[in-house]
Amino acid sequence: MWSSNVSTDGELSISGITAANLAKEFATPAFIMDEADFRARAISWDQALKSGFGENAGTVYYAGKAFICTEVARWIKDIGIGIDVCTGGELAVALAGGVDPSKIEVHGNNKSLAEIDRAVSVGVGTIVIDSLYEIERVAASATKHGRVQRVLLRLTPGIEAHTHESIATAHEDVKFGFSIVSGAAWKAIEAVRAHASIELRGFHAHIGSQILDTDSFEISAERLIALLAKYRDAFGVELPELGLGGGYGIHYLPGDEELVPSVVMQALATAVDTNCALHSLSVPKIAIEPGRAIVGPTMFTLYEVGTVKDVTLENGDNRRYISIDGGMSENIRPALYAAEYTAVLANRTSNAALISSRLVGKHCETGDILIRDIALASDIAPGDLLATPATGAYGRSMASNYNHLPRPPVIAVKNGKARVIVRRESEADLLGLDI
Ligand code: LLP
Repeated sequence: MWSSNVSTDGELSISGITAANLAKEFATPAFIMDEADFRARAISWDQALKSGFGENAGTVYYAGKAFICTEVARWIKDIGIGIDVCTGGELAVALAGGVDPSKIEVHGNNKSLAEIDRAVSVGVGTIVIDSLYEIERVAASATKHGRVQRVLLRLTPGIEAHTHESIATAHEDVKFGFSIVSGAAWKAIEAVRAHASIELRGFHAHIGSQILDTDSFEISAERLIALLAKYRDAFGVELPELGLGGGYGIHYLPGDEELVPSVVMQALATAVDTNCALHSLSVPKIAIEPGRAIVGPTMFTLYEVGTVKDVTLENGDNRRYISIDGGMSENIRPALYAAEYTAVLANRTSNAALISSRLVGKHCETGDILIRDIALASDIAPGDLLATPATGAYGRSMASNYNHLPRPPVIAVKNGKARVIVRRESEADLLGLDI
């Protein structure tokens, strides 16, 4: 929930810096990021992959869509893991951060010709192919640049992952990849093999996000490995790589579970070993793409309370609305996925009685609700600070300028020092787009 260097004992602080001091120096709303925690999480996924799969451990690709900026790309480079990008913009940031192109994997169900061409020309390690068109497009670009581009095929193993329907990605009725059961995957395999400028390295599946059990990952591995065996039987060679995607869930609320890297990787390694043995296949190099599980818990959002309003409901009950200075523009997840968060009073402690409250943003929408029902101190007043943990993944990265709100900055904290790594947008930034 909170990152490792946050203390909620008394006034909230991170690495010794109080919430009040952060607000004074950087203003609110702001994403506060625990750099040491980010690095530790990235490293622990890398180590878990290595200890689970040993010599068959491939690459951990950090899923940049969860949150990426140039400084974070530099950390990724420093740590030595790879990065998964799914647009030209994400690719540009990874390159700006100095990530070795061979450690970049490119995703996307509708990569533009320009995106493909840039990826091929800079020499990205892997392109994950999502459609028959793309096979031709990547092959043409690779021919043009005189390269052989390594590719994986994105497959849908037909799994109903236990998560919100908007973030499940591997059942049949989705826009992503090639279905194994329908035979689309086999057609794609044959199409790839017809091109000398692309080299099929293996298969890939990403079954969804915020998944909290290991079963779906194991079933996915089982189905992909069965296809690897079918490939070997048909063509007499084994494909050397298998991408198992990301999706490992984190805890948002007290009492929530999260997937522990060593536990998931051990379970996956067992599933992979068993299924490879079943088909007498050598174990391919296994790659994973955690996004949320690396960055999610590393940030909290710091808000200032602007108004407190009591509303009498039809049944006579009171509802307290506490408005903060952000909302659905920097955290769309509650509105989009009914995602639940918690919040704490951050600038002081309070012994006042708790009162059932609704935390809302400042947007012109009734649905601009950050937390539907939360017990907060009844003396919370304008000027107080509230902090929402676990907003690192799909928070700043999905932020919008709705109502012309400038997007908040990201402040990285490490060893008692706080610095801006993404600055706050200004009205000038917003007006700068208008002709
Ligand atoms: N790999 C692929 C191919 C993906 O599409 C994704 C996420 C990931 C890896 C990383 O998944 P993670 O480990 O972060 O769960 N906006 C939604 C989540 C959408 C996920 C999209 N793809 C949310 O806020 O919950």
